[in-house]
Amino acid sequence: MNLGLHMKRITVCLLIFIAAAAHLAATAAPIKLTVQAGTPGPQISPTMWGIFFEDVNFGADGGLYAELVKNRSFEFPDPLMGWIKLSPSLAKGELSVLAESPLNGNNPHYLRMKSEGTADFGISNEGFRGMGLHADETYDFSAQIRLVSGAPRLAIQLVGEDGTVLAEAKLEDFSPGAWKKCNATLKPNAQESKGRLNVILQNKGEVDLDMISLFPRHTWKERPGGLRADMVQLLADLKPGFMRFPGGCIVEGSELDRRYQWKNTIGPIEERKLLVDRWNYEFIHRPTPDYYQSFGLGFFEFFQLCEDIGCEPLPILNCGMACQFNSGELCPLDQLERYIQDALDLVEFANGPPDSPWGGRRAAMGHQEPFHLKMMGVGNEQWGPQYIERYARFAKALKGKYPEIMLVSDSGPSPDDDRFKFLWPKLRELHADIVDEHCYANPSWFFENTHRYDAYDRAGPKVFMGEYAAQSVAVVSPKNRNTLECALAEAAYMTGLERNADVVRMASYAPLFANAGAWQWTPDMIWVNSLQCFGTPSYYAQLLFSRNRGSTVLPVSCEPPPTGGAAPSFFVSAARDEAAGEIIIKAVNASQEPVEAAVELEGVTSVSPAAQAIVLASARLSDQNSFEEPAKVSPKTSPLEGAGPHLDYQFQPYSLVVLRIHATGK
Ligand code: AHR
Repeated sequence: MNLGLHMKRITVCLLIFIAAAAHLAATAAPIKLTVQAGTPGPQISPTMWGIFFEDVNFGADGGLYAELVKNRSFEFPDPLMGWIKLSPSLAKGELSVLAESPLNGNNPHYLRMKSEGTADFGISNEGFRGMGLHADETYDFSAQIRLVSGAPRLAIQLVGEDGTVLAEAKLEDFSPGAWKKCNATLKPNAQESKGRLNVILQNKGEVDLDMISLFPRHTWKERPGGLRADMVQLLADLKPGFMRFPGGCIVEGSELDRRYQWKNTIGPIEERKLLVDRWNYEFIHRPTPDYYQSFGLGFFEFFQLCEDIGCEPLPILNCGMACQFNSGELCPLDQLERYIQDALDLVEFANGPPDSPWGGRRAAMGHQEPFHLKMMGVGNEQWGPQYIERYARFAKALKGKYPEIMLVSDSGPSPDDDRFKFLWPKLRELHADIVDEHCYANPSWFFENTHRYDAYDRAGPKVFMGEYAAQSVAVVSPKNRNTLECALAEAAYMTGLERNADVVRMASYAPLFANAGAWQWTPDMIWVNSLQCFGTPSYYAQLLFSRNRGSTVLPVSCEPPPTGGAAPSFFVSAARDEAAGEIIIKAVNASQEPVEAAVELEGVTSVSPAAQAIVLASARLSDQNSFEEPAKVSPKTSPLEGAGPHLDYQFQPYSLVVLRIHATGK
């Protein structure tokens, strides 16, 4: 035999043996995972896992709000942005944006369209970077129209990217000299992701047009002019404990006159005054010149959404400070009254009786019953003594009138910098109820900080981890991706939040939504395009925690603590769901090796065999979901074999595992 070949074979065998031995060494020594089921810890707040909505990444217009027409009211500073003129060579016509005798003072511009009738002449709207049209679904067109002259006839068309007409309706007999809402129904005969809406004058005449709108008939709860059903369904599936809204930085505004003002977002939609979205111009590397807030999704709709999906509303209000990353403009303390009044009025809008001024506004919008507001945020990411001074005034007024409302204060944009270290002691002195902490950092920060809250003062303010997300590359890098590694890092961190549920009462991932064609900030929990949406691995990590929250923390220990290298890579928490009578173990194995565990349920005498293992895992840490493979990294549920007070379980590599075991104790 050839000696060289022989040696090669021996070497290959040796390498296989060494690899197998190493694998066995890594998998053979089981850890002992002990859950002290008979020694319950603190209660877990029903609001523990929530969601944070901000109108960033086209999250509202072009996202959750199902309106398909961009710049429907011609109020963008470039009044025809989003529209193009349709003027074939024989057509003779004119488009002008006018302001005399508008629809109302908050909506001062409209379009006048005039044609000589020599050929079709009109306008076409591109939607929010392409209009999504589903085949055979019904779409409701509406517009405010006023006849100026002649007897014009309008053709309303839904067309494909190449101009093919997919649906058409005709409108005529308009009211001379008076605005009138006109409606049409359209049913496209094919699906289109980059469709358009055409409004065409087909004969001689002149009309004024405003609030040109197109909605799918099918919306969340089939509400006319409502929300995208597929997106809300993803939120409802999370079973969130609360929803924080409307942001984020948009609460603050880059200057005070661009701040979010809830009173401008309620009432008839044609009277809600458009505002530029601060994400329009915030990132030079992601400019979005067509980003404005129509407020079709306003405060009434936010409250209604919370009610629909069964979560507590958490509105955040401006506290007299513009974004300190931008102008940092301050409302002088002696003029703060207006801001504080907005907060007081909001409580009345949400909870007041229909015969109160603001409760009456709510009732007029169709909601007689209160929305049961229990908490409110004062400021988003403010810092410095200026914040403390303003927070103290808000707290005095709000606690004076509504002592039952829990106030969320903030600790700035970082979880550990000088701003944070200044604010926390001051808020403690003020006996703040709960402090909002924010953290965007790379996955290692989350893996390394799972014990962050172990040493927090139990007697001080509670914690709301109001914004967090692992960044695969760097904070605000457009290269960040929603990888499995990020989701595992967040999940590991969440085990630490859960173990400290006596201090941490609420937490929410941020941001929530991103339109794939119009985003500014990544990563995000849910990605959407004009036709579809999907949850990222981070979405499923949130879902597993939220749907398996449990009501009481159970102490859990792990001996020896397994490592996948130098740093810990196995993280665990446990809880009891009192209503279901189940023990819930959540564990993250972030290493490439399986972790064998001998699980001991101390204090448990009998276990029902119908136990479950829910596993979120994938082959590579870099794995992601996409429109093509929306469920590539998604939870799989299977029966948990051999469930008993002692059970053996193998936590697979790169996984978040939830074990649900129905157990009774001594
Ligand atoms: O979530 C994106 C932004 O991050 C929020 O608007 C802001 O609060 C934070 O800086």
